[in-house]
Amino acid sequence: MTLAVITLAAGKGSRMKSDLPKVLHTLAGQPMLGHVLEAAEALSGAEQHVVIGHGSEQVKAAFADRPIQWAEQLEQKGTGHAVAQAMPAVADDAMVLVLYGDVPLIRTETLEQMVAIATQGQLALLTVVLDDPTGYGRIVRDDQGAVQAIVEHKDASDAQRAIREVNTGIMAMPAQLLKRWLPALSADNAQGEYYLTDVIAMSVADGVAVEALQASDEAEVEGVNDRRQLARLERIYQARQADDLLVQGVSLADPARLDIRGSLTVGRNVFIDVGCVFEGDVTLGDDVTVGPYCVIRNSHIGQGVAIESYCHIEQANVAAKCSLGPYARLRPGAELADGARVGNFCEVKKSQIGAGAKVNHLTYIGDASIGAGANIGAGTITCNYDGVNKFRTEIGEGAFIGSNSSLVAPVTIGAGATVAAGSVITKEVGEQELAVARGKQRNISGWKKPD
Ligand code: UD1
Ligand code: CA
Repeated sequence: MTLAVITLAAGKGSRMKSDLPKVLHTLAGQPMLGHVLEAAEALSGAEQHVVIGHGSEQVKAAFADRPIQWAEQLEQKGTGHAVAQAMPAVADDAMVLVLYGDVPLIRTETLEQMVAIATQGQLALLTVVLDDPTGYGRIVRDDQGAVQAIVEHKDASDAQRAIREVNTGIMAMPAQLLKRWLPALSADNAQGEYYLTDVIAMSVADGVAVEALQASDEAEVEGVNDRRQLARLERIYQARQADDLLVQGVSLADPARLDIRGSLTVGRNVFIDVGCVFEGDVTLGDDVTVGPYCVIRNSHIGQGVAIESYCHIEQANVAAKCSLGPYARLRPGAELADGARVGNFCEVKKSQIGAGAKVNHLTYIGDASIGAGANIGAGTITCNYDGVNKFRTEIGEGAFIGSNSSLVAPVTIGAGATVAAGSVITKEVGEQELAVARGKQRNISGWKKPD
């Protein structure tokens, strides 16, 4: 049996007050639709169908790398009409699961339960009980508690409006039944739309039992209509990530002041101070400490590394026991060996810093390799770019680069060499040599200031 997941994402989302299609608004750094697809992709063997309308080109482009069968809904004539657009691509013997691109926190485990119910030949419906059910479709049950129908808020009687169990919109059923029911929908209702929800009454009429699964968690099934709801779900999502970390044994200075936009893998005894943002795939080894207000993206931080406040680290590999910051910036391709140190206002790009080497103050290291134990003085710059091409700087083990030196690449400084402060180095410096490359000081006595 094929499982065909149909995710509805054609709506405009006017209340977002944005030109961006609603489902591309991000939660934890990823478009809402991406979260839904991720939950659905975790269902084994599922094929993904997405119904798009408003901003369809943009939505397709955002997910161009994924195997999705797109169905265009040119006019938004209701949820039933939307599902119908995807059905020609769905096999008759498939099982269908309907999801929504603006319900981002849905969990795979819930979907598995839905599919299991539908696989027994029933219609699975996900409902939730709300304190304020205003606006939602109400679940109408008979005296025995069996689900009879869904009545949309605008079509409901006062008695029906008192029902607090509502439709989340998520349902699963055999494609064959859906293919029979969808063409029979009518738009004869308060909104003049083809409601997917009308298939519930059709199912009952055809003797197909409807089994309602109640979501225990409102956030999981909450749809986003405006930015307030999105912001609220973001905080709920982040609170869960923080809670997960605490359970894993991470110390968080404040679980409410941490954002994870991607996946954070942690070792034992990690401490994270307030205001940190982790993006993409980040790993922190055992005993890592991260100071306040750091941004770490797609990087690996080794065991025992101490990161002080306000560091920006992107696509970097930091080995054990290094120390960084405060205010250090590691850009893509920065590779630090064990015990290296990059201090305040230093930028490192596409460079290897050897074990125990120190780059402590106000320095730019780009396209360079620095040997173990070298000391790079304050204000040193690797001049790696001539305006057109990039060149490399090689600094040997144990070299000492005096403060405020410019190393004009391509250039090599030998192991154990010393560069005098203030030098502009344009030629190779041999091992153990001292290079002095600066204007000589002249003191002029008796000099008079101009009048
Ligand atoms: C729908 C349900 C309602 C349920 C509520 C839960 C129907 C008729 N009603 O109402 O029972 O309580 O969701 O949030 O299904 N969409 C399309 N194409 C369309 C219409 C909608 O893709 O032609 C998409 C929208 O982008 C949205 C979703 O389907 O993501 C739900 O549509 P919406 O119009 O918001 O339905 P509700 O009125 O909220
Ligand atoms: Ca809605």
